[in-house]
Amino acid sequence: MKKDKLTMNIPSSEITPKQTYIHRRDFIKSTGLLAGSMLLSACGITPKSATEVVLPTSDPSIKQRTDELGNPVNALEDITGYNNYYEFSTDKESVAKLSGSLITSPWEIEVFGLVNKPGKISVTDLEKKYQPEERIYRLRCVEAWSMVIPWLGFSLSKLLQDVEPTSDAKYVRFETLFDPDVLPGQQDRLYPWPYQEGLRMDEAMHPLTILATGLYGGELPAQNGGGVRLVVPWKYGFKSIKSIVKIELVDYEPSTMWSSIASNEYGFYANVNPTVDHPRWSQGSERLIGELDRRPTLMFNGYEEQVAPLYKGMDLSKFY
Ligand code: MTE
Repeated sequence: MKKDKLTMNIPSSEITPKQTYIHRRDFIKSTGLLAGSMLLSACGITPKSATEVVLPTSDPSIKQRTDELGNPVNALEDITGYNNYYEFSTDKESVAKLSGSLITSPWEIEVFGLVNKPGKISVTDLEKKYQPEERIYRLRCVEAWSMVIPWLGFSLSKLLQDVEPTSDAKYVRFETLFDPDVLPGQQDRLYPWPYQEGLRMDEAMHPLTILATGLYGGELPAQNGGGVRLVVPWKYGFKSIKSIVKIELVDYEPSTMWSSIASNEYGFYANVNPTVDHPRWSQGSERLIGELDRRPTLMFNGYEEQVAPLYKGMDLSKFY
């Protein structure tokens, strides 16, 4: 059964406390009867009805959480109300209300290409198999704003390992749903739809790289990239492709949406780097949504210790 999009778009202030819970798995552990139905639906036996869909909530205990640098998570209203999703609109504040046309459950992705075990898998089965957990990451947009988002996700490496990439697989290519009736921005021929992204194999296998299927303790809203999206926290937000339907393992560097539109402005790597400016603006500072003052941008968005070794010996002003 499909998600009731109207329910998904109810302002968080109107969501009843009954639907409030902290973490999907804590919730499953702490409730008996409903936990039974959640588990059944996780096994794909019982489709979720609209009332069973677990919404992101503005639970005060989630609001109090911080990332590992001590930054508090952004308000749910910011995360779900200020979005880049060009398939709906270029106006960030319109995306949420326009995204009602996208049904995010059930959702299926196909994993294929240079792998021994290609196949299709539903998001329900991904969640059952890989048990999404909370990952509080900073998302730094190339437009120099940022947010702190409590995703529910799992390392992409788990899925990739299971499909057994062949030794020829060097890159991973991701593709968003192509359906101009549902994603009206795709009727605009100026853009090379569908949105595509790519990662080098070692970037894709890095434990920080996740597939997210939820946020703020609930399902991933359409405007944030439901049914499933990529999140690569040390790269500019445009690498974190939404509403993925295809993951292909390839032996070439894939063409990507923004670098194919303006390769002098947006590179394949797109690592957050305060020392390499965008040709039209500085990348040295950013505005964390919800704060008044700008703050300095951190190398690799603050994940330098974990990811710098991936780029050892590379000239990052050339491979931007
Ligand atoms: N994925 C698709 N398919 N279409 C888009 O327009 N925008 C990207 C990225 N993924 C985009 C996308 C950009 S520029 C950013 S900053 C992030 O999504 C924004 O994610 P958010 O709206 O969840 O904050």
